[in-house]
Amino acid sequence: MNSIAVLGCAWGDEAKAKIADVLSESMDVVVRFQGGDNAGHTIFISGKKYVFHILPCGALNPNTELVIASSCVLNLDTLKKEILDIESGGLFIKERLKIYGTVTLITNFSVILDKARENFYKKSGNIGTTCKGIGPSYEQRAARYAIRLIDLLDQETLRVKLEKLAREINMSLKSYGVPAFTSEDLKAEFDKLVTHAEYFRDCIVDDDYIYNCSQSGKKILYEGAQGALLDLYHGSYPYVTSHPSTYGAILTSCGIGINTAPKRVVGVVKSYFTRVGNGPFPTYIKEVDIHEKIREIGHEYGASTGRPRNCGWLDLVLLKRTIDMNGITEIALTCIDVLCKIGRVKICTKYNYATENIPPVLMEALDSVIPVYDEIDLSNCSVEGIKNWKDLPEAIKLYISFIEDYLEVPVTMLSYGPDRNQILIKK
Ligand code: IMO
Ligand code: MG
Repeated sequence: MNSIAVLGCAWGDEAKAKIADVLSESMDVVVRFQGGDNAGHTIFISGKKYVFHILPCGALNPNTELVIASSCVLNLDTLKKEILDIESGGLFIKERLKIYGTVTLITNFSVILDKARENFYKKSGNIGTTCKGIGPSYEQRAARYAIRLIDLLDQETLRVKLEKLAREINMSLKSYGVPAFTSEDLKAEFDKLVTHAEYFRDCIVDDDYIYNCSQSGKKILYEGAQGALLDLYHGSYPYVTSHPSTYGAILTSCGIGINTAPKRVVGVVKSYFTRVGNGPFPTYIKEVDIHEKIREIGHEYGASTGRPRNCGWLDLVLLKRTIDMNGITEIALTCIDVLCKIGRVKICTKYNYATENIPPVLMEALDSVIPVYDEIDLSNCSVEGIKNWKDLPEAIKLYISFIEDYLEVPVTMLSYGPDRNQILIKK
């Protein structure tokens, strides 16, 4: 009853972290339910920067319990580093952390395979992945030879599984012209995982953990990573991540049904669009000066890889799809301060098509669409210092009502800067 989902509605990087952080204040449990350390979630608290990759950002609220659920792919090196980094700042993490034993582990072998594949296809069309081993790890899960966290508790099982994994990966590496893993590499990975087993043993929980939390009345925040357009099934395939990132992923990953599922679903929408990696981007801004200005003002560089993000105008056609698909009940609109500094801005409300041969699947048509725009002038607008929604500048109200009318969902939160406090909530 009391649970909330926070979901990205575009190609990731919608500034979800801050929304999750703010909402987690009154929550008992925060859960990461998909993806891995391909996510890059940044929060500023009084000027201090925190970057999360695999831990839920709700971790910054010291009273929350932290859960990593089954459909995540987990690099234990990254996780341990993240824990130690945050703990060095005085916040306890590990004693609050629970991890589903059935979660898939990302081995160093998978990271190397991801890189090898990206490199091999560079000229003929790679995906532009984060090279964190995400794709290979989800492949292993589907092919049923993945290593799961629970496997670390029995060294003989681990040894056998690791050998099989290395054998499978070596066949791929060979075809990409990359040296295979040796028995020394295998031993090094085994030893590292055994060390991790000791460190993480107490964090392991069974797959009914979230169900039981819910039954005991705990308030749960389901914190999405990536965004709906990167969803493996409904996104801009093949330029997507390797797991669903829409609402349904919550249920599958946490092992819950409709009665436990969150009814309040907050869709995070950035006031303009960005995307990293390759793939279609209908509202990409071709005017170099505006593009650069948005990127610089919005610090649009990947938190995981440092890659510059491509920038585009808000695309209501795609958002209508992702809002409906996720069952979004309210919108958190982020980075409005960046758009205000641009002045005259565009919003895509319709697609025309360059060809008469329009594919019946929207995501397949994205390469051939011609966006149709409305314009709004946000010059001289600012949210800084405003305490009540009704006092917002008229142009911002117009921008918001344009979005609300089109998407038929209310905007209830407006984020106007990177700091935790730079947020206006509609009362
Ligand atoms: P957050 O949670 C933006 C993109 C990659 C690439 C594609 C596949 O910070 O919003 P992968 O490494 O997952 O196999 O890469 O998905 N991608 C993201 N883009 N933000 C993310 O997460 C992303 N996670 C994956 O850039 O295009
Ligand atoms: Mg990101």
